[in-house]
Amino acid sequence: MAERETWATRAGFILAAIGSAVGLGNIWRFPFQTAENGGAAFLVVYLVAVLLIGIPALLAEFVIGRRANINAIEAFSKLNRPQWAFIGALGVVGSFWTLSYYSVVGGWVIRFIYATGTGAAFAAPGEYFGTVASGTGAVALHALFMLLTIVIVAFGIERGIELATRLMVPSIVVLLVGLAVYTVTLPGAAGGYDFFLTPDFGAIVANAGTVIPAATGQALFSLSVGFSVMITYASYLGADDNLGADGLTIAVSNAFVGVLAGLVVLPLLFVGGIVPGTESFPAGGGAGAVFIALPTALADLPGPLGQVVGVVFFGTVLIAALSSSISLLEAVVSYLVDNYELPRAPTALGLGSVIFVLGIPSALSLGWLDWFDGIAVTLFLPFAVLLVVLFVGWVMGQEAVDEIRQGTGGVGSLPVVWLWALRTVVLLGIVVVVALNLNDLFLTPNSGYYIVPGPLR
Ligand code: PHE
Repeated sequence: MAERETWATRAGFILAAIGSAVGLGNIWRFPFQTAENGGAAFLVVYLVAVLLIGIPALLAEFVIGRRANINAIEAFSKLNRPQWAFIGALGVVGSFWTLSYYSVVGGWVIRFIYATGTGAAFAAPGEYFGTVASGTGAVALHALFMLLTIVIVAFGIERGIELATRLMVPSIVVLLVGLAVYTVTLPGAAGGYDFFLTPDFGAIVANAGTVIPAATGQALFSLSVGFSVMITYASYLGADDNLGADGLTIAVSNAFVGVLAGLVVLPLLFVGGIVPGTESFPAGGGAGAVFIALPTALADLPGPLGQVVGVVFFGTVLIAALSSSISLLEAVVSYLVDNYELPRAPTALGLGSVIFVLGIPSALSLGWLDWFDGIAVTLFLPFAVLLVVLFVGWVMGQEAVDEIRQGTGGVGSLPVVWLWALRTVVLLGIVVVVALNLNDLFLTPNSGYYIVPGPLR
């Protein structure tokens, strides 16, 4: 059997994992979730969820991946517990599913680089988004985005994913910082900072049933856990990496970029006169929020400034989206390459094509896109995380502690604290989230998380 690939460097792994975490989740999904769920209150619950559930779960996936050194499905046999392989499979299906609509949004991003660059999106942003979000053009750009993803994955771990993310991640941070600084100078931005940064704790308590699962789902989605992606990435690691330190670096960087993106997008919403909770906010879910708000805000800027900022913004988003979409595809490709010794490039192309087809409904209607996203983030994801936590906490137990100690050079009892956190607080937290989601999904009519697609727009 051919030798399995590995990351060339530790920094390469960290950047690839940050690249996976930082994506449309931070820049497209986070702002409208924040806007729909009470602003700063959502941010607080999100950060708590990252700390309490996200980071421990991320480490749990790392432990599975590195100990097994094989794809997420085979990993469980490698750890002598083949009866648990369905966890890895659930994650891989989640990746497959998620990439299908993620790529449609990626296609929009490509469109908006062009549409802000030429100014085409500026005259009537809302209508423009409505026209281009669904239809044959959207299908074509979805195909283009998938193709870019396929090409990078086809080049493999070191020459494809590692190389690409090494360039991409620093660019994302530099560009976003630049945009955030620029946003401060715009008139009307203040309302956005206020909305984003001044929590109304009463609102959290009053809407706990929806804010908590939404914020936790967002936190987990943003960290790329639950879809076997982090298991897969960690499987290309050597034994001498410090998983705890790497995990913290990744999670902190991701939250930092999330907040940074919020500091760009939410003030820009206000600059463009789009105020969450009022008529001005795009109706029927916020999938269009960023795409409508940005051009609205940019249209008023003098001269070509709006065009330039638009291209920089959507260019940044495209890079972030690609560095995530490659991880989703890799989780699926890795299984076929490891297990059936299929050649990487054709496998990436074949799988990418099937995922493209699965994404066509989302490219034809916003209702379907919303539905795919809802199922991914409220059904697949928390469930998969629940199982991972259960597995690592209660099935692997001491073995997980041994694994996470490797390469740390001694961190006292921290690994044991982590294990007991997984077994108790984290497990309980995620059980509550799953229960709230199921309640919303099946018992609450018109809740927004519907089991069948909503009115297809
Ligand atoms: N974390 C990515 C984002 O925020 C999405 C993602 C989820 C990627 C799960 C891989 C796995 O956009």
